[in-house]
Amino acid sequence: MVQINLPENSKVKKGNYYKDKTGSKNIRKVNVYRWDPSTGKNPRIDTYEVDMDNCPSKVLDLLNKIKNELDSSLAYRRSCTHGVCGSCAMNMDGKNGLACTKPHAEIKGDINIYPLPHLKVKKDLIGDLSVLYKQYESIEPWLKTSKKTESTEIIQSKEDRAKLDGAYECIMCACCSTACPSYWWNGDKYLGPAVLLQAYRWIIDSRDEERKERLKKIADEFKLYRCHTIMNCTNACPKGLNPAKAIAEIKKMLATV
Ligand code: SF4
Ligand code: SF4
Ligand code: FES
Repeated sequence: MVQINLPENSKVKKGNYYKDKTGSKNIRKVNVYRWDPSTGKNPRIDTYEVDMDNCPSKVLDLLNKIKNELDSSLAYRRSCTHGVCGSCAMNMDGKNGLACTKPHAEIKGDINIYPLPHLKVKKDLIGDLSVLYKQYESIEPWLKTSKKTESTEIIQSKEDRAKLDGAYECIMCACCSTACPSYWWNGDKYLGPAVLLQAYRWIIDSRDEERKERLKKIADEFKLYRCHTIMNCTNACPKGLNPAKAIAEIKKMLATV
């Protein structure tokens, strides 16, 4: 029987333990994935005892508290702190989400925090999204129209504008794509739910004149048809969007053009 082992340097080891020094009676243990490529060492899980009496409500607050008070070397992304920029996307308690909107009270027991799954890791909780951004660029996410001039407004009816609801709100956090098994296995070729939702957003925009070309460009065995409607993406979206439905709509349009 074939035995498959992880390469030695990819095994996650037990890391440092940061004991509470405040004497608080309200402590939670937070386990955080750590990896620093500059050290040449294996990834590890560090454990922090955090005084919850003095911690605001979200997982990002927890991380900020750890970084400010216990361990300044911890690396993670964040910017808006209001669920708008998408930069604090990570895996918390086994589920992808935004650390700035996820209440830590919703997590029972120890709090486990990892980077988004199946991405290369740049450092600690920071996943490498460069492939996803290239894929995003490939769908040309901007309006293509000959009508546009510097001074002319391009009119859209209320009904046509309403069709973009559920698509324009996407913040490209990548929670969906990194929860998608097809994207895990074929992430270099399959565009994944985040980028396909964006493709859909431009395909259905009544002001855009390249609907057919856009559809043709993604009608590919790998780019589009690797989606097997498993629905993990929709389940993972912290904005409550439905990328799986958008992908199904694209497939429907392709079947009828
Ligand atoms: S529905 Fe498609 S895009 Fe969404 S998780 Fe499943 S395979 Fe991935
Ligand atoms: S569809 Fe949702 S999960 Fe996916 S990138 Fe957009 S906001 Fe994030
Ligand atoms: S920090 Fe911007 S979405 Fe969380």
